[in-house]
Amino acid sequence: MHLGDARIGVFDSGVGGLTVVRALRSALPGHDIIYLGDTARVPYGTKSPRTVERYSLACQRFLLDHAVDLVLVACNTASATALPALREASAVPVIGVVEPGAESALRVSRHRRIGVIGTLATVGSGAYPRAIRALAPDSVVVAEACPLLVPLAEEGWTDDDIARAVAHRYLSRLFAQDPGLDTLVLGCTHYPLLRAVLAEIAEALAGHPIAVVDSATALAVAADAHFGGSARSGRAGGGSLHCFATDTSRLEELAPRFLGERPASFALVDI
Ligand code: DGL
Repeated sequence: MHLGDARIGVFDSGVGGLTVVRALRSALPGHDIIYLGDTARVPYGTKSPRTVERYSLACQRFLLDHAVDLVLVACNTASATALPALREASAVPVIGVVEPGAESALRVSRHRRIGVIGTLATVGSGAYPRAIRALAPDSVVVAEACPLLVPLAEEGWTDDDIARAVAHRYLSRLFAQDPGLDTLVLGCTHYPLLRAVLAEIAEALAGHPIAVVDSATALAVAADAHFGGSARSGRAGGGSLHCFATDTSRLEELAPRFLGERPASFALVDI
């Protein structure tokens, strides 16, 4: 395997984390990336924190065995529930998606009234409100679990009446908690695919502009900062991408939807 400036390991519960890889390849084109999607066990978002932690540690072990210099936890559910255990088990830095997402939200939020949407496990963990309030104790943060959005994104129903109806049902509940929200955090790997519909419905419900924060982009920015911008001054491009998955069902169909291109191949692994 050809090595670039650094080797970044990225894992997710499935293919959704390829939205992070997509953002990474545009922010840090010179780095080699190893991606693991735990497609045999997806979804994580409906499982208990103990199970998510166990699965996440196995994913990370696989990446560490491949000598990565940095671990990025693309999965919001894993970041929200397993980050302390992952950091304790790793000799290299581990960055989750929650803190970068929280920082991005505070950067763009005008009145610090922030709504977060994610899986049942992510919202149940309270990780995003905790991270946002740790940085800005005066902020108002509300959250709503949106479990149907993951299968919608995988089905490719991202810009039709069904997507709008489902988004409306969930976001109505979010805005009922705080009609003055000015920022929406997409706290799930899959939601960037529904970004346009979510933004449209959020603005219609709010009656004012809503800043939308995409946690995939936020994590790529955090990775860039981790390398001090050196990636940009290093190799201009051509970093390799090696993808692994624990099950191959629907990979060919789903992966390009999240990555925005067809990955060269996925190797099947058991972890
Ligand atoms: N990757 C998960 C997340 O970002 C969504 C899919 C799942 O539930 O595993 O929370």
